[in-house]
Amino acid sequence: MSDKKIDWKNLGFDYQKTNKSFMSVYKDGEWDEGELTDDNFIRISEASTSLHYGQQCFEGLKAYRTKDGEIQLFRTDENAKRMQRSCDKILMPRVPVDKFVDAVKKVVKANEEFVPPYGTGATLYVRPFMIGTGHTVGVKPAPEYIFRIFVLPVGSYFKGGLSPVDFVTTEYDRAAPQGTGAAKVGGNYAASLEAHKEAVEKGYADCIYLDAKTHTKIEEVGAANFFGITKDNVFVTPDSPSILPSITKYSLMYIAENVLGMKVEERDVLIDELDEFKEAGACGTAAVITPIGAITHKDKEHVFYSKEEVGPVTKKLYETLVGIQTGDIEAPEGWIFKV
Ligand code: PLP
Ligand code: COI
Repeated sequence: MSDKKIDWKNLGFDYQKTNKSFMSVYKDGEWDEGELTDDNFIRISEASTSLHYGQQCFEGLKAYRTKDGEIQLFRTDENAKRMQRSCDKILMPRVPVDKFVDAVKKVVKANEEFVPPYGTGATLYVRPFMIGTGHTVGVKPAPEYIFRIFVLPVGSYFKGGLSPVDFVTTEYDRAAPQGTGAAKVGGNYAASLEAHKEAVEKGYADCIYLDAKTHTKIEEVGAANFFGITKDNVFVTPDSPSILPSITKYSLMYIAENVLGMKVEERDVLIDELDEFKEAGACGTAAVITPIGAITHKDKEHVFYSKEEVGPVTKKLYETLVGIQTGDIEAPEGWIFKV
């Protein structure tokens, strides 16, 4: 038990040790049952494929405190399925969806005191991941794996919460069209560090990646997906084989269409098309919805709704999404998992 008081309203996105992590080991072709552990260190072979060849993947989701003090998870089965697709892509064993969901529930329950109170804007971030372990020096899949989950309370990922932030396009590529961009594997994030650093040094929140082949289409906003709202009120978001299929983005597409009655388009989004959008945002588990004030491309700044205020459609999308996640608004069937 922690006796340190947490300042829920001023949390950023920084690691802190909580009570328990979950750990399961894959050996001789099968997963063990797994258990909760107090230890936040992992002892593995120095010749683990995860350390040399990036054979690892991860997920990110959140636990939310409702008004009546209960704890709930959002679309956890979708994280489990995406992790299976990441595992398939880099030849790691799948974790069954039920095992994944049960393990998330267990570890959240064991860290109940770290789930921020309702209304603080903070949440409990859940980080499942898998690493290749055992002794391997040749470039081939590992003989053993660890599936592990830790949690930590977090606030806003991009400084500002629902206040707009600015982004800049980058010349660097995050992922190739036939590569691993749609999988949540560490290599994609290593490939993003330099572009992120340069964008931040120039005073932007993060960079916007364009498609690697033509550099004409928007791919991702740092570690989040992009959406724009056209002057005709259409929700538009990029369709590309090299972006991470964001669970938040697909939830927003559903909300835009079925709750807000908007038209929704998942398609190529040209960087030269920015004038068509009256509002834009970055969406993801960590980013939630972060309104985009402006995008700078080739030294030209394009301002959307405002650099200071969130636009009305983005605000409505945000309120509906967060309302569902925190239990204030009834969720579509199957979206909520009670802890
Ligand atoms: N794109 C990237 C590269 C990400 O890392 C994330 C975060 O998971 C997202 C998009 C958003 O995905 P999700 O909404 O499933 O969190
Ligand atoms: C998430 O939104 O869960 C992410 O994975 C983004 C980032 C912290 C890597």
